Amino acid sequence: NEIYFEALFGVAPRFPMTFAGLAERARAALAPDVWSYVAGGAGDEHTQRANVAAFERWGLVPRMLVGAKERDLRVDLFGLELASPLFLAPVGVLGLCAPDGHGDLATARAAARTGVPMVASTLSVDPMERVAAEMGGTPGFFQLYTPTDRALAESLVHRAEAAGFKGIVVTLDTWVTGWRPRDLGSGSFPQLRGHCLANYTSDPVFRARLKDPDGDPRGAVMDWVSVFGNPLTWDDLPWLRSLTELPLILKGLCHPEDVRRAKDAGVDGIYCSNHGGRQANGGLPALESLAGAVAAADGLPVLFDSGVRSGADAVKALALGATAVGVGRPYVYGLALGGEEGVVHVLRSLLAEADLLMAVDGYRSLESLREPGALLRC
Ligand code: FNR
Repeated sequence: NEIYFEALFGVAPRFPMTFAGLAERARAALAPDVWSYVAGGAGDEHTQRANVAAFERWGLVPRMLVGAKERDLRVDLFGLELASPLFLAPVGVLGLCAPDGHGDLATARAAARTGVPMVASTLSVDPMERVAAEMGGTPGFFQLYTPTDRALAESLVHRAEAAGFKGIVVTLDTWVTGWRPRDLGSGSFPQLRGHCLANYTSDPVFRARLKDPDGDPRGAVMDWVSVFGNPLTWDDLPWLRSLTELPLILKGLCHPEDVRRAKDAGVDGIYCSNHGGRQANGGLPALESLAGAVAAADGLPVLFDSGVRSGADAVKALALGATAVGVGRPYVYGLALGGEEGVVHVLRSLLAEADLLMAVDGYRSLESLREPGALLRC
């Protein structure tokens, strides 16, 4: 309504209302290699496209005469009362995407304003302590790329605890970089420009390893490369678990057997995702793994991302059992267009669409979406 009323008074919407529109404008706003890095995926990007297309194979069945005047989209996640079931997925080049070069801070401020939690990436332009400080009362999570150096991993986790993050998300599918033809073709990997390393360059354990701790932080790039790729195995899980009493969530679990093993190993949450098709091509769309992951999680919270482009997509993922739904590229494009305001715009639009859809289709609550017959395969 706000948008229609403003239009009545001649105020044109500042940001595009569709994902395609956001992408088009973001492409023009970003440096070409940053655009390629954000928009691109692995291989010929079949999985990336399939992630999005998968949502079209599911449809909500409208219920009438429900009078769903009020909808309840609140969710309890690890004991945190969240106003909505959306969250900002971790993205490692946010700094490069924002007009002022501090995209992690802008995104954190958008989280503060909307109540939508941010999962802050290890690879941020500003250190996690500064990012956390911008989140206001909205809970945040820290995403860990687990270094091979265990002391450094422990230091990052303990800093996240001290900074007030409410959970640790360990990403499992990125111990090597995916085969991304767009980045390979441009010969540019924006992270290697030396941005996004603040969590390392501000870390006492990392600094102690540097040959020249007071030199240009970009000099640390090679050290970063050497600590980044840790091919974790199930044998590492007890150690990971021992690092923190905060909720521990594993990102990248799609196979039900992996979900069961993770649950047995004492993790608190499952994060079903294929990294937006950036890491491996040829995989199943993440949405198709969701119901199996939810069943195997057997009551453990299941976060989901990969391919969510609209409020309707978020509703479908919730109906398939996701506890909370992550947004990736859409908010990065909003960030590119308008910093904090752009991210707020994307989140508010997704939430408004989801809420309106539930109103029109007669679903008052997230539980009602999960009742048999609410969501069917088209
Ligand atoms: C990511 N993603 C990601 N994930 C993670 O755990 N740590 C990270 O640092 C990053 N970095 C990153 C950079 C960029 C540019 C993108 C687009 C994505 C993956 C992200 O958390 C999420 O899984 C996907 O973005 C979800 O897919 P969609 O919504 O972008 O299709």
